[in-house]
Amino acid sequence: MSVEAHDITLTVNGETVAETIEPRMTLVDFLRDTLGLTGSHVGCEHGVCGACTVRVNGVIVRGCLMLAAQCDGAKVETIEGISDSGQLADLQTAFERRNALQCGFCTPGMLLTAQELLATGGVPSRDTIREHISGNYCRCTGYHAIVDAIESVAQDRARTG
Ligand code: FES
Ligand code: FES
Repeated sequence: MSVEAHDITLTVNGETVAETIEPRMTLVDFLRDTLGLTGSHVGCEHGVCGACTVRVNGVIVRGCLMLAAQCDGAKVETIEGISDSGQLADLQTAFERRNALQCGFCTPGMLLTAQELLATGGVPSRDTIREHISGNYCRCTGYHAIVDAIESVAQDRARTG
């Protein structure tokens, strides 16, 4: 550990975490390597692919573009915690049912990004869905099934309130 190490305290999935970290450690590396939360993936490490998507203070961010040190005092939520909370249950079921995942590498980030859109309410158009997930790359599915899954959940949520 270098002499410039930082002490940070934050909440991760509702639990308080206090760690000493290298100043240049990214948030996603901190989550994966220090805390063992490997549901957030690392793809491009340049903010392009969306595999590392997590929530910080309620807003989705690229975990590879944010430093862990910037999250001192923040509320961080990962796919593990958000999924355990049940917020994504219908989306996860729809992704499975519609074959919206194959290797699954993009899926955690895709689910968080989809949830962000659906939280705005209503039934977005397919173009809006495509636009919203355009920062999350999927190498397997061709996106059609992902848009189908998100659209079906939006329709179900609108129906059931
Ligand atoms: S790994 Fe962060 S956007 Fe690709
Ligand atoms: S399911 Fe493989 S990258 Fe999306």
